[in-house]
Amino acid sequence: MKTLIFDGSPRKNGDTAALLSAFLEGLKGEYTLIRAYDKRDISPCVDCRYCWDHPACAIRDDMQKIYGLIEESDCIVIASPLYYSELTGPMLSLLSRLQVYYCARKFQGVSLIRKPKKGAILLCGGGDGGPEQAVKTAKMLLRSMGAKEIADPVMSLHTNEIPAAQDPDALCAARKLGENWI
Ligand SMILES: Cc1cc2nc3c(=O)[nH]c(=O)nc-3n(C[C@H](O)[C@H](O)[C@H](O)COP(=O)(O)O)c2cc1C
Repeated sequence: MKTLIFDGSPRKNGDTAALLSAFLEGLKGEYTLIRAYDKRDISPCVDCRYCWDHPACAIRDDMQKIYGLIEESDCIVIASPLYYSELTGPMLSLLSRLQVYYCARKFQGVSLIRKPKKGAILLCGGGDGGPEQAVKTAKMLLRSMGAKEIADPVMSLHTNEIPAAQDPDALCAARKLGENWI
């Protein structure tokens, strides 16, 4: 069982990291963690439209390795703080490269993802600006990576007052997700 995790937080020991570490406690199998803030050398999609006619992305950078990891994975997790009620900018920049999957389906009628996956969402927020848009975006991105089933999001949404590391409900839900969902 292979899990691929996209982490959109710039804070290595922050709130998202606390939820992820609870999630990982019970997780079976192997996992790969991709931190969007460490992958800023990967180009965002530039809408060159190569993928309108070809089942691949024209940009030859490290995203090519990530496409391979997506294909191999059984479960994909999107974990992020809310920034302006969205996933963070570097996360959206990185995952804009999933456009190749959309275009392969839309313009060539092919699916580049053969293995169906489960999807999961972990979100943190300080307290102002709700998670609805980020959940919607995360679900859309997970579906584009082949997620057929997506678990209810696990969220810690009052981190200005209670850091996620001290939010027992969110930690417990994250732990259970790792144990049972995957
Ligand atoms: C630029 C910026 C925008 C933010 N926007 C929101 C928001 O819309 N809603 C919210 O609840 N929290 C917002 N926050 C607070 C973060 O989501 C919160 O501090 C989160 O717990 C940080 O997670 P991390 O420690 O994993 O990075 C924002 C923080 C920053 C820096």
